Amino acid sequence: MINIDAHNHVKGKSIYLDDIQELQGTLYALPFDATVAHAKISAIDYTQAIHRTGIIRIITAKDIPGENQIGGILPDEPLFADGEVHFRGQVIALIIGTSEHHCRQAAKLIKVTYEELPIITDAREAHAQNKLIMPPRSFSLGNTTQAWEECAHVFEGRTDVNGQEHLYIETQGAYARPKEDGSIIVSSSTQGPTAVQRMVARVLGIAMHKIEIDTVRLGGGFGGKEDQATPWAVMVALATQILHKPVKMAMHRMDDMRMTGKRHPYSADFKIGLSKDLKILAYEVTHYQNAGAAADLSPAVMERTLFHSTNAYYIPNVFAKAFSCKTNLPPNTAFRGFGGPQGKFVIEAAIVKAAEALGVSPALIQKTNLVVDGNELSYGQILQQTQAHPTWNACMDSFDYEAQKERIKLFNESNSRYKKGLAIQPICFGISFTNTMMNHARALVHIYHDGSVVVSTGAVEMGQGVNTKMLQIVTQTLGIKPSRVRIESTNTLRVANTSPTAASAGADLNGKALQMACVALLERLKAVAQKEYTDQIIELKEEMVFANETKTEITWQDLIMKAFVQRVALSENSHYATPTIHYDKSKEKGHPFAYHVYGTSIHEVTVDCLKGTYNFDSVNIVHDFGKSMNPTIDNGQIEGGLVQGIGWMTLEEIIYNEQGRLVSNALSTYKVPDIYSVPKEINIKHLETEGHELAINKSKAVGEPPLMYGLGAYFAIRDAVKAFNPNVELAVNAPYTPEKVLMDLYRRR
Ligand code: MTE
Ligand code: HPA
Ligand code: MOS
Repeated sequence: MINIDAHNHVKGKSIYLDDIQELQGTLYALPFDATVAHAKISAIDYTQAIHRTGIIRIITAKDIPGENQIGGILPDEPLFADGEVHFRGQVIALIIGTSEHHCRQAAKLIKVTYEELPIITDAREAHAQNKLIMPPRSFSLGNTTQAWEECAHVFEGRTDVNGQEHLYIETQGAYARPKEDGSIIVSSSTQGPTAVQRMVARVLGIAMHKIEIDTVRLGGGFGGKEDQATPWAVMVALATQILHKPVKMAMHRMDDMRMTGKRHPYSADFKIGLSKDLKILAYEVTHYQNAGAAADLSPAVMERTLFHSTNAYYIPNVFAKAFSCKTNLPPNTAFRGFGGPQGKFVIEAAIVKAAEALGVSPALIQKTNLVVDGNELSYGQILQQTQAHPTWNACMDSFDYEAQKERIKLFNESNSRYKKGLAIQPICFGISFTNTMMNHARALVHIYHDGSVVVSTGAVEMGQGVNTKMLQIVTQTLGIKPSRVRIESTNTLRVANTSPTAASAGADLNGKALQMACVALLERLKAVAQKEYTDQIIELKEEMVFANETKTEITWQDLIMKAFVQRVALSENSHYATPTIHYDKSKEKGHPFAYHVYGTSIHEVTVDCLKGTYNFDSVNIVHDFGKSMNPTIDNGQIEGGLVQGIGWMTLEEIIYNEQGRLVSNALSTYKVPDIYSVPKEINIKHLETEGHELAINKSKAVGEPPLMYGLGAYFAIRDAVKAFNPNVELAVNAPYTPEKVLMDLYRRR
């Protein structure tokens, strides 16, 4: 089935937040934000601004009837700064006017007097000053202290990896309208409608039942709208509550880039020990996560870093520790992979360092240590149905890695200006929210008596194609045409208490719930047909009733009308909760993931050793999709994730200066992948497997894992740099921008 949004997207007919027809009298909101990163606010003068034409009201912390608090995991984040600011871009007030232009003019007239305080932008510095979001956590398996003695080789090092701007094409935004009796409807470009509803209720001091959140689709989220769509929705809802008017905000790109958090930068120290035959016997790692000025999702992101600290490798002795460090930057947040990529970056760097020191290929160490069934990970989960070796082997064979390696060797011997690099990137990613309680979902299905069907789930469509997958489930289960079914917006009145669409689990969780609802309806409908075909096996296919595999006269529409006349319920509401998962935080042991997703990619890059620029010649991937229910969409997720990962590892460089000001604050200063940075060839092969029972239709979750193939881009470039400048000590510091590559090519010691 093609993506059901394809036609409307291409014709420009799809409705995003800013396309919603505005009500007459709609007002516009502009957040007014701090221009220093850490300070006491000694005075604010709004007088000139408030008297400017077109300005209706300026809302501050004092106007909040409920709590001035939007922290989801920890209550450490005010909606509006009150007395102090902790990062540049922190919102102090909300300007409401008859146009956004008026608001921008007024913003220039607000005068804030700051008493500046010391600024920290670096995670290690925050750690040294004991500025932490929460106490550190550590995972341990075996005994590393003892294991070092058994190791033939031990290596230590440090890695640094920068953040990443989400750059969803649709910026943050929300539109609130008043309803009766103080109720409010908010259209929000959010991955988590319930999270928004909860915070609106908290800040406005009203019950959740008075707030309806509606989300049609997002122009991309990538994690950036899991938690950080909330403040804007709360702000417009608050303005609507105060003014009894519709209030809208659709952010400008530069405001969005400045005010919102990004992927977390991490710094890490590692120690890796190997046996003579290259088995990794011990691994210790300390992660320093740069959380920014408030917790946001950092504790959960940090947890996922720990869960993925050994990637696809079995290591019998592991000690992994992580600090969430509080800095004066916008709170960093979820981003595709959710801390997993940062965890994997370190173990990959450790392996590469070991390989370089031992004069072997990193691939040899990688392959020697891939996980197999029965391996225990540092958090206690015993792996089953592992596909690390199968994807690795299939990748080597299908793409003839040995020949590629030989060709590159010859190329490098006969070229001095250009050098080629090669890297292999295996991945292993856990599917389920790491917080067990979040792994459930609901679906609501109505069949109208004309035979048309409407479906609501908790899943938010953000380009990943989840609505198309939902449609496939309905049409397959009920045996009807796609044109009979409408997938409705995600709405808190129709589906309550949802988890955000995140953790790549959107299709699994909501799909399973939807399947249950459809099966329940199917059983009731079959019972109706059974009355006319007693003792025969009833099936619904091709919009017809089949009895004992023979097509009857009864059409889908007839059957629905019969059911309606017989007063059979034509609506169903289902709930699904992932079975088997559990986790004990006090022991840091359990079985947190329903299953893992595996894959292996091979990256070939050519570096121009005069300029430091590079091109990716090819990326060859064998991926474990299980039984993909939509190969076109799933391949799209691989391509998108890969390119996003390559961008993070190579081009995208977030720069905050010492004052905590975002210097890379626009698309002119922040370089994202374009058509030229995409590998010239991307080949994706599906590994033939059974899939997993806990995946929807055995089609494994695919949203986040492919981003981690991007890591291979970094190490392929490093391989090429080493080919040009072999005897030099290189730092591990992503992104590997052309500037850094050039410096490394000519580094002496
Ligand atoms: N693909 C597109 N086109 N746009 C997105 O915003 N988000 C990613 C991934 N793929 C995203 C995307 C992230 S971060 C997640 S968690 C998953 O999609 C969420 O959707 P799923 O759970 O349905 O896979
Ligand atoms: N992944 C993604 N998003 C999340 C998670 C997770 O494990 N936990 C909370 N939000
Ligand atoms: Mo995705 S980072 O879990 O929204």
